[in-house]
Amino acid sequence: MADSQSLFPLSLISTAALPDGFSIRPLARDDYHKGFYECLRVLTWVADPTEVEFQARFDEMAAAKDTYFFAVVEFRGRIVGTGCLVVERKFIHNHGKCGHIEEIAVAKEHQGKGLGLNIMRALESVAVSVGCYKSILNCGPRNEPFYEKCGFHNSGIEMSVYF
Ligand code: ACO
Repeated sequence: MADSQSLFPLSLISTAALPDGFSIRPLARDDYHKGFYECLRVLTWVADPTEVEFQARFDEMAAAKDTYFFAVVEFRGRIVGTGCLVVERKFIHNHGKCGHIEEIAVAKEHQGKGLGLNIMRALESVAVSVGCYKSILNCGPRNEPFYEKCGFHNSGIEMSVYF
């Protein structure tokens, strides 16, 4: 069981080979002041949510049982890496589950230390533990070599419509 402060049980993340001083764990409800949004800003625009708004979104994710698995890398009390597995339940493939990898971000000053790879490995272990038959993601051409190092291959094109 996850405790109420943790989005999912730590035991779903397999042991990682992180550099000294770094640890990986599920997102926690009291992470607002640890630089979570600053970390996400290396990825995209995130506005400026309040702590109440952060906790409301956290609670929504926790209530959607076994669906959102947001992991974070911590270093000296600060969040310096993030990544999320979203589990989609299907009718096809014998009611299979497909993992969607989202929001992979490593703080600029910590890139190139293997943290991104460790986050991907952690999310892979969660996907296997919860019974996903595959994980997929969308990324730009710039990040394709990184995801190839993580064991992914290019299997199509991404299409989108914005609202
Ligand atoms: N091009 C080529 N190789 C790369 C790249 C790249 N852009 N990025 C990482 N690698 C390689 C590394 O050299 C390393 O190879 P090695 O094992 O042979 O030494 C391997 O991939 C693992 O690298 P890490 O050090 O684990 O990568 P890092 O911690 O720097 O994280 C990440 C990579 C997440 C892409 C980081 O650069 C980042 O946060 N970028 C900005 C945000 C972003 O674009 N996120 C991805 C969005 S797509 C999505 O979320 C699904």
